[in-house]
Amino acid sequence: MGLSDHCLDRDRIPRHVGCVMDGNGRWAEQRGMARTEGHEQGEHALFDVIEGALELGIKWLTVYAFSTENWNRPDDEVRFLLNFNRTILRRRCDELNEMGVRIRFVGRRDWRVPKGLIKEMDEAIELTQHNERMTLVVAFNYGGRAEIVDAVRQIAAQRIPARMINERTIARHLYDQEMPEPDLIIRTSGEYRISNFLLWELAYSELVFSDVLWPDFTRHDLFAAIAEYQHRHRRFGRVR
Ligand code: IPE
Ligand code: IPE
Ligand code: MG
Repeated sequence: MGLSDHCLDRDRIPRHVGCVMDGNGRWAEQRGMARTEGHEQGEHALFDVIEGALELGIKWLTVYAFSTENWNRPDDEVRFLLNFNRTILRRRCDELNEMGVRIRFVGRRDWRVPKGLIKEMDEAIELTQHNERMTLVVAFNYGGRAEIVDAVRQIAAQRIPARMINERTIARHLYDQEMPEPDLIIRTSGEYRISNFLLWELAYSELVFSDVLWPDFTRHDLFAAIAEYQHRHRRFGRVR
């Protein structure tokens, strides 16, 4: 099945797509495997989606890798996820760089994030900083509420007077100044919720929910989500 089978309008490709990569644990449990094997399998889905996004000319792709609430999982799963994210970065950073992908991260860099992972993140950012084909934003130790709290803290620390604070002020203090608001957010695994992803930024995003568990998700599911997006009529509160 090729791109044209999805009848996508090349002039209406979303600029920024966000993905809540959910369902790894269930994928593994259905096969009698450990949940961690679902996370491992999720790597293939991620890279297929990245390649699909590049094929379409999507400029920004944000993927939810670890939420501020995911610390509440069993210790061994948390440890696995921290190591696994570090390993992926180390193993595949050069490949992403060769594909012309610029890597960024959003989320809190607090004491819980291992130093080694932060080092790997900084190296990936630096290595890929001049790439222009697509920006891959990895939401790691990310929470939408934490992001807003962190923005408010910075605003308070700068003693910006209350009457001067507007929506632009908040937006200017979010984690990534350049990141445009997502046009489309995809959540997999048949769950119909946001789970604290990009709360501020998604005010007018189109939401597409897919029943596919993340490890089974492919670029064709991405294309199908974009086809659905192209059928939506975005009004931003106006009348047509
Ligand atoms: C998503 O898969 C990956 C992360 C949250 C890190 P899950 O691990 O949430 O898988 P399910 O939802 O339990 O199936
Ligand atoms: C959202 O999935 C977080 C990530 C995909 C990293 P969760 O599996 O953590 O969300 P809930 O618990 O189902 O809401
Ligand atoms: Mg889940």
